[in-house]
Amino acid sequence: MITTHISEPNHFLLTGATGLLGRYLMKDLTLAGVPLAVHVRPNRRFSAQERIEAIFSYWDQQLGKVLPRPMVLSGQLGEESLGMAPSDIRWAAENCTSVIHNAASLSFVSTGRDSEPYISNVNGTRNVLRFCQEAGIHDFHHVSTAYVCGLRSGVVLETELNEGQEFGNPYEESKVEAEEMTREADFITSHTVYRPSIIVGDSQTGFTNTFHGFYAAVQLVNTMCNHSAMEKQFTGHSDFHPGRVTLDGTEDKNLVPVDWVSSVMSHIISNPQHHGSTYHLTPRNPVQIRTIHAVLQASAKMFGTQLFGNKTAIEDATEIEQFFYEHIRVYDSYWRNDPTFDATNTRKAAPHLPCPHIDYKKLLFLARHAIDMNFSWRDKLIKRDASSLVIN
Ligand SMILES: NC(=O)c1ccc[n+]([C@@H]2O[C@H](COP(=O)([O-])OP(=O)(O)OC[C@H]3O[C@@H](n4cnc5c(N)ncnc54)[C@H](OP(=O)(O)O)[C@@H]3O)[C@@H](O)[C@H]2O)c1
Repeated sequence: MITTHISEPNHFLLTGATGLLGRYLMKDLTLAGVPLAVHVRPNRRFSAQERIEAIFSYWDQQLGKVLPRPMVLSGQLGEESLGMAPSDIRWAAENCTSVIHNAASLSFVSTGRDSEPYISNVNGTRNVLRFCQEAGIHDFHHVSTAYVCGLRSGVVLETELNEGQEFGNPYEESKVEAEEMTREADFITSHTVYRPSIIVGDSQTGFTNTFHGFYAAVQLVNTMCNHSAMEKQFTGHSDFHPGRVTLDGTEDKNLVPVDWVSSVMSHIISNPQHHGSTYHLTPRNPVQIRTIHAVLQASAKMFGTQLFGNKTAIEDATEIEQFFYEHIRVYDSYWRNDPTFDATNTRKAAPHLPCPHIDYKKLLFLARHAIDMNFSWRDKLIKRDASSLVIN
């Protein structure tokens, strides 16, 4: 059977559809009946269309049914008119009334303003806004981050943005600039901002296709332990011994599972009465560093490292401690207590969707899942026969 989407001028154009959050948004919005178009760049293995088909094949398998496919618009965020073919530009102008701008570079390091994350996050957002203006799209949904608060402490409100705070890394700075730019665009009549905190994998299945943040720490500790075990096997001895972690253990970290972020966003997107506000997508109960520390130890089966105290410099760092801090340095800005994110708007808009609590057991489950995946994921293209093709 060939299913056809009747094109109506009511599509949401989603960027960043191939990323971790994007692929959950595609699934949840499709299930909610939201007509979707996705802006995707081809990669070395697949065309834009094939990349989306591969992601949907995964969802079809997970859900046990074939989902309708979105309209795929191939392009590049960094180019004029988002690098789309003239026919796709016309299609988007005729059919899209809203944009969900979710694409971003999550690079925490930068060599300057003309490199990442500024290229994708600042210039990319500017191009998306320019395209919206040309295409007559006035309803803008922007995926920002709770960490636009930079290095602030205390309570951070959803209504606040640039309070003169310092930033922990170029990523945070680039996301503030992007959010400011979208707020200043006067042709936007409805502006909805989603600010997740640290996104981890699926609370039910453990799935993730990216391995930064929490997963980078899991990978580093596991790599160090595997290396040490191999060394012991070949040489009969190992230099590895438990190290010292320069944190108290009482610091809070705000981890949120991707399935929850996506379901709250999909609820807000599909209910226009909630549009126009800013939402902190943050948990009710943050995870303490002592829990994360215990999970890292259990995941690597390496016990005995000590929480040494926040801001305590280790004068006599061992080689292994130096190696650890050298490799985790990119996340220096997260090596601290999080502020308290007020999430009044989110609680009001989605009281029926409480964030699943990330406790020791859940976090260990997520860590073990990433280890089982060997910290990598490749989408697989499963060719479907023509009888089940969905045409937009
Ligand atoms: N992950 C977190 O902890 C976290 C926390 C708070 C907020 N956020 C925000 O949530 C959003 C989604 O993040 P995520 O975790 O899903 O990230 P992700 O898995 O790294 O996905 C990023 C997406 O953006 C696309 N993208 C990046 N640069 C692009 C460019 N120059 N042109 C076109 N597409 C580009 C990527 O496309 P390719 O697949 O082609 O590379 C991918 O689809 C981002 O706005 C991010 O800032 C994330």
